[in-house]
Amino acid sequence: MSETEDLVRNRYGIDVAVTDQMNETLRTILSHRTCRTYTDEDISDETLNLLLACAQSSPTKSNLQQYSIIVVRDPGLRRKIGDLVPSMGWLASAPVALIFLGDLRRIRKLAELRDHDYQNNNADTFMNGAVDAALAMQNLITAAESIGLGTCPISYVRNRIDDLADILALPDGVFPIAGLTLGYRADAGYTAMRLPQDIVIHHDRYDDSDLADVIEDFDDRGHQRFALPPEKQRHTDKYGVLEKCTWSENVSRQLSLPERDGFAAYLKRKGIDLD
Ligand SMILES: Cc1cc2nc3c(=O)[nH]c(=O)nc-3n(C[C@H](O)[C@H](O)[C@H](O)COP(=O)(O)O)c2cc1C
Repeated sequence: MSETEDLVRNRYGIDVAVTDQMNETLRTILSHRTCRTYTDEDISDETLNLLLACAQSSPTKSNLQQYSIIVVRDPGLRRKIGDLVPSMGWLASAPVALIFLGDLRRIRKLAELRDHDYQNNNADTFMNGAVDAALAMQNLITAAESIGLGTCPISYVRNRIDDLADILALPDGVFPIAGLTLGYRADAGYTAMRLPQDIVIHHDRYDDSDLADVIEDFDDRGHQRFALPPEKQRHTDKYGVLEKCTWSENVSRQLSLPERDGFAAYLKRKGIDLD
């Protein structure tokens, strides 16, 4: 089995016919794994600047660049943000934490400066800002992993969104997408299996008619590779602990209760319309 086939098999837990091509970029992307434990080794400003340049090299809608990134190195500030997410201690302890923001403010200010109307306070602009920020974050993740660093996105920073906005002085038109911790890996981590192409990739038109069958196989493969321990099973107080808690069971449990349902209200308070 070639290295390419091996990495793809590891991603899905099944064989997929792929061309036998390999290079550093493909290897980095196919080997992706989130990192939640870091060594104490710091990251130099120059390394960080390089990674930020990679982040800013991502595509961006109409080159509007409707995102910002806050680099948080100050330990006091890190602790304050970490306190908002006590279950994710690495947010405060990783050498660097970045906060990715959708930023609809900059162009509103530029419109004023250039004496133009601004007529795009709407859901489409919100989406463009969110996508821009996400693409920048992904570029940074890939760049970091390519030089041996590890990262972990943290959407949990939105759990206490008003406190976060206060700590970071987020003005109107700016909203957090996710945090991202960055540092040298303290462990190898593991490859999280992905859904088979059969149900994520559609050909010519959308068709999910075989979802139930395909997901059963996927759940079995996932359980064989990594049986979900009780502490990783969601809402056990409501649904109990299962010997075989599959991916589909766990994600259904997760979304059976509202998560961060105050987000739309936050956007409204920050002057962002979703009409
Ligand atoms: C937008 C976004 C938000 C995330 N938020 C969190 C988080 O709050 N806490 C966490 O531990 N992991 C978080 N993750 C990491 C995912 O849990 C992880 O990507 C997923 O389990 C797949 O694992 P992998 O990235 O190692 O393949 C987030 C990932 C993304 C893309």
